[in-house]
Amino acid sequence: MAKARTAYVCSDCGASSNKWQGQCGECGAWNTMSEFVVEPAGPGKAAAPARHAGWAGRPQAAGVTALKDVSQDAEVRLSTTIGELDRVLGGGLVAGSVVLVGGDPGIGKSTLLLQALAAMAAQVPALYVTGEESLAQVAGRAQRLGLPLDNLHALAETGIESILALAAAAKPTPRLLVADSIQTLWSELLTAAPGSVSQVRESAAKLVRYAKETGTSVFLVGHVTKEGGIAGPRVLEHMVDAVLYFEGESGSRFRVLRAFKNRFGAVNELGVFAMGDKGLREVPNPSAIFLSGASTAQPGSAVMVTREGTRPLLVEVQALVDDSSLSNPRRVALGLEQNRLAMLLAVLHRHGGVVTGDQDVFVNVVGGIRVQETAADLPVLLAVLSSLRDRPLAEKTVAFGEVGLSGEIRPVPNGEERLKEAATHGFRRAIVPRANAPKKGAYKDLEVIAVERLSEALDAAAEGG
Ligand code: TYD
Ligand code: MG
Repeated sequence: MAKARTAYVCSDCGASSNKWQGQCGECGAWNTMSEFVVEPAGPGKAAAPARHAGWAGRPQAAGVTALKDVSQDAEVRLSTTIGELDRVLGGGLVAGSVVLVGGDPGIGKSTLLLQALAAMAAQVPALYVTGEESLAQVAGRAQRLGLPLDNLHALAETGIESILALAAAAKPTPRLLVADSIQTLWSELLTAAPGSVSQVRESAAKLVRYAKETGTSVFLVGHVTKEGGIAGPRVLEHMVDAVLYFEGESGSRFRVLRAFKNRFGAVNELGVFAMGDKGLREVPNPSAIFLSGASTAQPGSAVMVTREGTRPLLVEVQALVDDSSLSNPRRVALGLEQNRLAMLLAVLHRHGGVVTGDQDVFVNVVGGIRVQETAADLPVLLAVLSSLRDRPLAEKTVAFGEVGLSGEIRPVPNGEERLKEAATHGFRRAIVPRANAPKKGAYKDLEVIAVERLSEALDAAAEGG
């Protein structure tokens, strides 16, 4: 076999050069050159363009085919036996798929995958490749977690070529492989250090190719760096079938696994886990944990019904509004988008007549969860108002609804489902967009207050409080 050649390719314009350069000679961009393997061109096989290295492992096209003739039973799913993980994957693990599990160090990626692997090893041969911990550490952890060790195979190795060779030679042949973590893997074809963009990308590309060729399902573990990761797993998002990110506050024992991308299921699907002394335990009914648990309503607190993925969730949002000594008062949003908060405060001023320009405003979503949908607008404003007035909302009140720039309250998807979740958890009042209101008397114990304008919503909130 001819020796593989490497080249430095600009990620902006695709120009390649034999030497590394700080600035691309073609387009002039800085720090965009990274090393790629350029496969030697064999007879009858053209070299793949270097910048498409990630796609080289796609299954060979079987010619032009009518879609109706394509067999669809190819999508075999295997349950991970962890219900919340199955949910995030879209109903189990698809054979031959590559799933990237990202998150901060120490959040529980290795723990979850070891638990899932041990459970699945009873059905299919599984291999845990560890580049960070020794075999003794992995075995020790599995033992502490009380996992069945019989069918669990592990390999401590970081060279991607030897990993793939050893996996191919292993008996029984693994159908399931965990690579923990992708940042420790390196290819002998590249001179760059492990953890660099080119090494991470090349190792992942090899694993993707391996998964597609052998039908093995592969989990890649990736640490997200604080900066969101030039050398982090973000560069892999387009290569893999699914990207799951772990979220959660370091102080809290709850962990949320969110599907950021999924070729086989809904995005933004959430799986909720609690970290305990026996590892991660699933929380199948998570609504309760995102409420702060205060027995009476507090000023500055509002409960919203959000719907992430395919499940409604009750989540508490807290606000603190306080006199500011700064000429530029602070607006801090945790678990929400900062710009959205600034926009909402402007709407509150213009259409609700409530001035917060001289106040610091802090907003926090309880439980370390990140809320991305606009249904949070109304509850955020109610929490802000409640803190400003130092008056709690009425007991057992929930709210949801998008707030428009002209002060209108706009409907959100799946209103019925959200109301049902609120009723199930014993809420008594719901402030919702008019278009989301059900027929009169649809809920016996839940009074639904339908509003069209922000001013109506503020009146409704003031009445009960
Ligand atoms: P780990 O899975 O090693 O994190 P990652 O692979 O994402 O870096 O999780 C380690 C953390 O979890 C560590 O802080 C200890 C805690 N932990 C528990 O609380 N209980 C347990 O049973 C285990 C295994 C870990
Ligand atoms: Mg780990």
